[in-house]
Amino acid sequence: MTQERETTERKLGELFRERFGGVPHTIVRSPGRVNLIGEHTDYNDGLVFPMAIDRSVWIGLTPTSDRSVVVVSADFAETTEFSLDGLGDPPGAGGSWVEYLKGVAWALQRAGYELTGWQGVLAGDVPIGAGLASSAALEVATARAFAEAAGTRWDPLIMARIAQSAEREWIGVECGIMDQLISACGVAEHALMIDCRSLEMRPVPLPPKTVVLVLDTTVSRSLAGSAYNTRREECAEAARLLGARTLRDVDTETSPTSGEPLPDPLLRRVRHVISENARVLEAAEAMRAGDPARLGEILNAGHASLRDDYEVSCRELDLITECARKQQGCFGARMTGAGFGGCAIALVDEPRAQAIADAVTRGYTAETGETPRIWACRPSSGADVVRSV
Ligand code: GLA
Repeated sequence: MTQERETTERKLGELFRERFGGVPHTIVRSPGRVNLIGEHTDYNDGLVFPMAIDRSVWIGLTPTSDRSVVVVSADFAETTEFSLDGLGDPPGAGGSWVEYLKGVAWALQRAGYELTGWQGVLAGDVPIGAGLASSAALEVATARAFAEAAGTRWDPLIMARIAQSAEREWIGVECGIMDQLISACGVAEHALMIDCRSLEMRPVPLPPKTVVLVLDTTVSRSLAGSAYNTRREECAEAARLLGARTLRDVDTETSPTSGEPLPDPLLRRVRHVISENARVLEAAEAMRAGDPARLGEILNAGHASLRDDYEVSCRELDLITECARKQQGCFGARMTGAGFGGCAIALVDEPRAQAIADAVTRGYTAETGETPRIWACRPSSGADVVRSV
């Protein structure tokens, strides 16, 4: 057990005792993620390659016999209470952490699950709004908490879909399935190649002696307020113009390079999605061959495509990845997640990881005046029950 895990468990236990007395009946956790490659492809029925990380949202809870949910957030020093009856209609307009809890309760009940109330405490160490899927971690942890409270069988695929519907309908962000899926289904020591059409998943380990550094630019981003939904609409529009169901069905044969040209920027959006799906397959091959140099080149190409064709990078993400690429022992670097700020990742030689982190910190700080947060992450397992009494 890592020290962070022990600290979070202790923090949850203390807060629970203080607020409710006794110890929580159950502790659940659900992780954040980085995405190695396959960005903005999930909502085009494409391929993604995320990895759950060793940072999670944790909930310690005890079921109650009524229909009310009382939750204390350690991170926001706030308490919320709501009833499972009369949640009302989805507001569909962002909101605080409380809305994610309500949204998941609403989505579970709509799917036919009989829920019971609980009282609990919530804490997490996934940086919020940094592109590491903190929302999905909160949604899936909440689903797991409800499932434990009601004694419902946990099916990670079904629960990921329900969590996604909470985000789309209750919160109003038209996200794909990647974040909730990896948070629910992550495999320790592996990244997961996922076909977002068939939902087939294949765990693949990182090349030997490599590690993924998370490079947090500290430029915060808001997915709900960003151009995310616009990108989705552009993809849907391009597919419509090409007579395809989704961009997954547009291959290089029928792609706009050989047919009627699409108007800008649709052509570039399509080019990104097609090339990114191909990069996921190439990345899987490089990983199976244990070839970090090849994998690094694929990450670099993915970043260029997101920057130039998909236009979801920003100056700080470009800078921090350039800084990383200059370091000896860095195989490649790219932004991760939706973009517009937040985090990048770098695939590095494990023994050089600390030296690279220090050099990137110096370089990025010199250019921007901001101190990045950089750490090595480990591939972790998906949502689980940490302890149950
Ligand atoms: C966000 C969404 C995901 C995915 C990525 C971009 O993280 O939640 O569904 O679309 O952006 O790859």
